[in-house]
Amino acid sequence: MKIISGIQPSGELHIGNYLGAIKNWVRLQGDQKNDCFFFIADYHSLTEDYSPKEKSKEILDLTIDLLALGLGPKKSVIFQQSQIPFHTELTWILNTLVKIPELERMTQFKDKVKKQKHNINIGLFDYPVLMAADILIYKAEAVPVGEDQIQHLELTREIARRFNDKFGKFFPEPKSILTETPKIMSLTDPTKKMSKSGGDKSYIALADSPKIIKEKVKSAVSDSGGQGKNAGLTAQAGGDNLLSIFNALAETKEEKVEYMNYKKDHKAGKLKYSQFKPRLAELIINYFADYRKKRAKLSKNPEYIKKVLKDGVDKASAIAEKTLKEVKKKIGLTI
Ligand code: AMP
Ligand code: TRP
Repeated sequence: MKIISGIQPSGELHIGNYLGAIKNWVRLQGDQKNDCFFFIADYHSLTEDYSPKEKSKEILDLTIDLLALGLGPKKSVIFQQSQIPFHTELTWILNTLVKIPELERMTQFKDKVKKQKHNINIGLFDYPVLMAADILIYKAEAVPVGEDQIQHLELTREIARRFNDKFGKFFPEPKSILTETPKIMSLTDPTKKMSKSGGDKSYIALADSPKIIKEKVKSAVSDSGGQGKNAGLTAQAGGDNLLSIFNALAETKEEKVEYMNYKKDHKAGKLKYSQFKPRLAELIINYFADYRKKRAKLSKNPEYIKKVLKDGVDKASAIAEKTLKEVKKKIGLTI
């Protein structure tokens, strides 16, 4: 199966990114039947406030993170979006197939309009069409993402159908692939999804030190937390969220049994957070120990990281160029 996904270089990776998306990327590239493309969505990241001084470091750091988590240049094509001009060229063509109200309905756009009132730029609005181009230009069939991207994928399928109806069958309609934890919630407000914009304590960054992880898990809202009108809801969601993180990271049989017991206790209202939380922190710390080691090693070799990205661009670019040529022909631009 042809598979593609992207991630924005905008600050630290958190366990939501890993458990919602990257865990699946690593799994999918392990199957020889799959043809996998994973990229740094740097053009998408320009739609939020950013510092030009930081950007190139963010791109390199994210690539290091992906490699340290197990993506491999021998198994997947790993590249930087902005280095392949064909994505944005296809975006222009696809733009003419999309209606303004369709983009106005996008939940992520509406959320970001509220969050960055000072910077409601056209890129933010057109974001889903660039995403559709990223996917369709490789004629991908499946896209592993977190739940928040499902609406964008529905639009991508709609764009593919529209193109096919108008110009003849060409693009596959890509489906989404979700993990068992497609939406990890914030540690400080479990009614919201975990995200970098929720503040330092709301997420666990993969690069957090063991000490910080322990502190963050300890202060996470659980069943005893939550006040005000959403208290009941928050209480339930907090405990469920921590348990689902435990379950997703439990690998051995013993850990799975441990999870079942915690879950049973939670259901019966008897879960002792004073025991469960330190154990969860320990599980997170151990799970990402290997990642932290690999990351430290890879960080010493920026030339290797640049080479991985350059090789990836060469491979992806050839495919993207070919698709765009075919598209131009189909829509009548080739004279
Ligand atoms: P982003 O950092 O927005 O580029 O997201 C990268 C990937 O992580 C996307 O596939 C998202 O859907 C996924 N993701 C982001 N936040 C979460 C979360 N809280 N839970 C699960 N998946 C997430
Ligand atoms: N919008 C995605 C996110 O924020 C990133 C992304 C850009 C993407 N282009 C894509 C994901 C194409 C999958 C396929 O998570």
